[in-house]
Amino acid sequence: MDNDSTERIVAGLRQWIATAAPGAQLPSNRALVAQYAASPVTVQKAMRALRGLGLVESRPGVGTFVRAVRTARPPDYAWQTAALGSPQVRIPGLSTPMRSAAPDVIGLHSGYPDRELLPQRLVRAALARAARADAALTRADAAGLPELRAWFATELAESCPVGVTPPAPRDVIVLPGSQSGLSSTFRALVGFGQPMLIESPSYWGAILAAAQAGVRLVPVPSGSSGPDPDELARAFAETGARLFYAQPNFANPTGAQWDSELTRQVLDVVRRHGAFLLEDDWARDFAIDAAASPVAALDDAGHVIYLRSLTKSVSPAIRVAGLVVRGPARERILADRGAESMYVSGLLQAAALDVVTQPAWHSHVRELRHQLRQRRDLLVSAVTEHVAAGHLDRVPRGGLHLWLRLPDSTDLDRLVRDCETDGVLVAAGAEWFPAEPAGAFLRLNYSGPDPARFAEGARVVGAALARQAG
Ligand SMILES: Cc1ncc(COP(=O)(O)O)c(C=O)c1O
Repeated sequence: MDNDSTERIVAGLRQWIATAAPGAQLPSNRALVAQYAASPVTVQKAMRALRGLGLVESRPGVGTFVRAVRTARPPDYAWQTAALGSPQVRIPGLSTPMRSAAPDVIGLHSGYPDRELLPQRLVRAALARAARADAALTRADAAGLPELRAWFATELAESCPVGVTPPAPRDVIVLPGSQSGLSSTFRALVGFGQPMLIESPSYWGAILAAAQAGVRLVPVPSGSSGPDPDELARAFAETGARLFYAQPNFANPTGAQWDSELTRQVLDVVRRHGAFLLEDDWARDFAIDAAASPVAALDDAGHVIYLRSLTKSVSPAIRVAGLVVRGPARERILADRGAESMYVSGLLQAAALDVVTQPAWHSHVRELRHQLRQRRDLLVSAVTEHVAAGHLDRVPRGGLHLWLRLPDSTDLDRLVRDCETDGVLVAAGAEWFPAEPAGAFLRLNYSGPDPARFAEGARVVGAALARQAG
């Protein structure tokens, strides 16, 4: 019934669009509700379908318009095929979490927290202060603002036990977000065509950065408790790899957190093979039930390189991260950073430092934990109630996602498409595997907008799955 109404509206509007001038404004949703005697949800679905067909475009806050055809003759770029040849390495396109969602869509796909979870007041004040400071007009140091480097070093030093020499500010390189730190580390310490170990599944951005650097990925299976140290040792021995990229705390996507015994075993394997562990501590500020405990705090011999991003917790617009790396490896990475982008905007560094050194930052992080716990529990209940065929191996103790196992027979592409048609964006787990996926998974984010609609989103996923079961 609902689908019939949607089709009726789409058909009516297609006729209208066929005779309308490019750029003409469509009647408002409210007018269409009245004209077709349909519900607002049905009208929104019809609009989504028209957008999907490329017939209209929405300008938020203004309205929906007939898409203008800008050129009568399709451009001919065939000459570029010959000029470009085939790429040396094929970099996959940007992943689902980077997709922007229309305002009426339920977004469970995203990787970045909704703005209501950000320290908005602190960020705006910090940017205003930074704009008035010297940082707005000067070139920053190649390794970063000394005070920000000191902040990253001190934060990690606070976790170092007695007997471990804490990192110093000179061991820190400030980055424009951690993605560029992944690229630089892979390029500088692994190199084109060389092997690198990576948990499987693992962060899609690291898989992309490895492809860009031409690094050969060697997957190490990693479940809800982390990687198997024996498999890790075997992979080091078989491949001669010298770097293992991992997320010991609240891994994206599995949510795994290594216990102290596993941490000790992994460190032991890494040391025995004269290798590096690149520890991506992306969710340090998103601890919920347990604090993040960085592995890097246990190493002062330069085996662990520690990557700490502020992008998600301070603001996606203040893209700043820190890399703590000791010894000659630091010089290699710094040289790569210099060649890539010379230095990071001092304005953004000053703003980031301002935010994380305000007394209110700590109360913000406490409140954030509370909010994330509520959102996580809400999504877990919704999924448990509405996605009967789904299985959660673990409720993550931190981070932003659930990693939901589905029956092996699931057609994931179809599931994702069906959910999108019904107004829910989800991310297929295949994007988190460096090789063939070990099963069918969905990654569901609980930090997006409008948690009140989580249940509705889970219901759509459950119904789409049930349709596949027949
Ligand atoms: C594991 C992991 N590392 C790094 C990042 C990205 O950090 P940044 O935005 O600072 O590049 C993400 C973002 O999703 C992530 O999940």
